Amino acid sequence: MDPVKVTKICCIGAGYCPHIIVTIVDLNQARVDAWNSPDFKLPIYEPGLEEVVREARGRNLFFSTDVDKGIEEADLIFVSVNTPTKKSGVGAGFAADLNYVELATRRIAQVARTSKIVVEKSTVPCRTAESMRTILEANSKPGCRFDILSNPEFLAEGTAITDLFKPDRVLIGSLQTPEGLSACQSLADVYANWVPKDRILTVGLWSSELSKLAANAMLAQRISSINALSAICEATGANIDEVAHAIGYDTRIGPKFLKASVGFGGSCFQKDILNLVYLSESLHLPEVAAYWRQVVEMNEHQKRRFSKRVVDTMFNTITGKRIAVLGFAFKADTGDTRESAAITLIRDFQSEKAYVNIYDPQVPHDQIWTDLAEASPLVPVETIQKQVRICSSAMEACQDAEAVVIATEWKEFNDIDWEQVYSRMNKPAFIFDGRLLVDAEKLRKIGFAVTTIGRP
Ligand code: UGA
Repeated sequence: MDPVKVTKICCIGAGYCPHIIVTIVDLNQARVDAWNSPDFKLPIYEPGLEEVVREARGRNLFFSTDVDKGIEEADLIFVSVNTPTKKSGVGAGFAADLNYVELATRRIAQVARTSKIVVEKSTVPCRTAESMRTILEANSKPGCRFDILSNPEFLAEGTAITDLFKPDRVLIGSLQTPEGLSACQSLADVYANWVPKDRILTVGLWSSELSKLAANAMLAQRISSINALSAICEATGANIDEVAHAIGYDTRIGPKFLKASVGFGGSCFQKDILNLVYLSESLHLPEVAAYWRQVVEMNEHQKRRFSKRVVDTMFNTITGKRIAVLGFAFKADTGDTRESAAITLIRDFQSEKAYVNIYDPQVPHDQIWTDLAEASPLVPVETIQKQVRICSSAMEACQDAEAVVIATEWKEFNDIDWEQVYSRMNKPAFIFDGRLLVDAEKLRKIGFAVTTIGRP
């Protein structure tokens, strides 16, 4: 099980609702132990999460591997298991793997002796709730009824706690039957402990499931759109920040999610869009599928374009050159590396036979090695380890490098002493800003050759 999101939402719930007992169950003993660790060494890094766990753990928030007891005792069960993209079989590379959802559902059906409201929290394809309901009903015991709700999560990593404390909206989908509506009200009542009522939206089950995929697809589409424009800016002399600023002033467009970058990452955007592509194809809507697929293709193109720009700018070769990559997480304020653009960039640099120094303030070193090995399955680990060094500070990573690549927008990279960095680098010293983070003019004055996304 992947408890990250449900843990966060439950932790917040537990914080706001001392009258509700929240038990988070997971089969993974090591992870549960980490959640229970006396010194609060929690298994994920998320600003503000520790404080919330400190307040509620042991009072009305519990972590356990006793899944069956958790099911038996609960009135409301959030199913929050992993739904990764399928790697093989029908729909491989696109469809969501629903194996864990089905296993969890069957377990609930098998163990429950009293009626339950089962909440689909994992991101799932449209109409998954239907399959869950069929499984639960086919296996329920006499007098035991199951109501299914869809309650997708919209928090973003790095800002999860604020997103949960003050969500733009909470979405609950239910069957429009008296029982479905009553279950929906029970969950709405829980959220009403801290979310204003007008932000709790109740809709049909299928609309709720599709809205989750739609929200992520629209967000990712904005990034691919601004990144597509960044390529035009680089070729024409326009400045992507100025363009984003200008269009964002239109209240119909709005200023958020218009930051050009080296490409979006994270566990959700790509997975959810591919899921939408698969759904569209299954519904015989090839043009719709092609439209959404292009959002992911644009993202891949942006990453490739950035790597190529590094090579082109450094006199068409980076063989034997040392490149410092600052940031490995898919965005700032998280230790999560899933689909991080940094992984693709480093793989590209490695295949050009460059040496790479990596620094990230949060990502554990063994995670970096695992990601790099997975990204280049045909390259022996020893070869990767000869080419890559993981450093414990930005300064160390930049030592004797010919180029610095900013891959994640960590705030601490703003405070780097660039004069120091310049004095430690080989010349000419290049900076490639994949996050529109640094003051390019200031760095040029120091002597750097600066290349920024979306600027000529
Ligand atoms: C995203 C959504 O924002 C959440 O609403 C959703 O709940 C979540 O996926 C999910 O489905 O779990 P998350 O992936 O945590 O959240 O992070 P985002 O802030 O959306 O960033 C995703 C990627 O887009 C990052 O790599 C980020 O650097 C990039 N990005 C974001 C840009 O390149 N430009 C922008 O303007 C914004």
